[in-house]
Amino acid sequence: MTRRLEGRVAVITGGGSGIGAASVERFVAEGARVVIADVQEEQGRALCERLGAGTRFVRTDVTVEADMANAVDTAVAEFGQLDIMFNNAGIMGALGPISKSVMSDVDMTFAVILRGAFHGMKHAARVMEPRRTGAILTTSSPAGLVGGVGAHAYSAAKAAVLGLTRSVAAELRPKGIRVNAIIPGAILSAMTADIVKGDPHDLEGAKDALADFSLMGRVGMPEDIAAGALYLCSDDASLVTGISLEVDAGMCSAPGDSPFATGDYSEPIGMLEGGRRSAHGER
Ligand SMILES: NC(=O)c1ccc[n+]([C@@H]2O[C@H](COP(=O)([O-])OP(=O)(O)OC[C@H]3O[C@@H](n4cnc5c(N)ncnc54)[C@H](O)[C@@H]3O)[C@@H](O)[C@H]2O)c1
Repeated sequence: MTRRLEGRVAVITGGGSGIGAASVERFVAEGARVVIADVQEEQGRALCERLGAGTRFVRTDVTVEADMANAVDTAVAEFGQLDIMFNNAGIMGALGPISKSVMSDVDMTFAVILRGAFHGMKHAARVMEPRRTGAILTTSSPAGLVGGVGAHAYSAAKAAVLGLTRSVAAELRPKGIRVNAIIPGAILSAMTADIVKGDPHDLEGAKDALADFSLMGRVGMPEDIAAGALYLCSDDASLVTGISLEVDAGMCSAPGDSPFATGDYSEPIGMLEGGRRSAHGER
């Protein structure tokens, strides 16, 4: 490891599982001290124990502002500062057709994904602004960019965090704080195992099902997202703010299969006006 986060302090929400846990591990390996903020106590504490003195677990429900404030204050009290806030906690939330939406489930989905990110940004900014430095990152989703790949409330909330990211990035840019988002493709985790296998623990079974979604012939792993998160939260990205980084095997930006570069068009050829064709370069 290159120790790209030496001396840095991070809070990672949803750090007890999946993408969050892989990010905790990577950030610690890169020299950071990390507060794991999650509702799942057992998993969070176990990870903390395994990684040792540079980590703390704080039971945090991101929908509760006081919990987020406490996670941030714990980072400052225990480790002296906050350099990185990774708003990663998420749930798929409300499912089903729009005509049958259960609004309390919709509200709950917005609370975890959008309100949770709001809380994280608010309390990170509170302690980062006086030091005029920091990186805030939020996990969005392909469902925040394109239709039909996630549940309705989830898609709406994941789109909303992209808007929030850009808006807050503009405010905090003059204060030395960068604000970005990351867009994971289909990544093997408890959430996706639950979706494709109906069992959050069946990671092995979910692997093959998820590989079918991947455009790069292998399943996306939480470590793939941790690597993107590391980039955006490190000094390597010191000129990067307000963006969303797609780590999705091309799912959002390059999903096609290049029909005009294969098969019938294996010879260089041009399609000209009126449907006339010519060999390459002839008109
Ligand atoms: N896995 C994917 O394919 C994928 C794709 C796009 C986006 N995402 C996003 O990545 C993030 C991480 O998901 P994952 O795939 O690692 O799933 P995961 O279920 O393994 O991890 C999610 C974590 O968030 C925590 N969490 C849920 N509600 C919380 C709350 N109210 N307060 C605090 N913590 C809470 C859970 O306890 C869990 O530890 C989520 O925001 C998810 O929407 C995942």
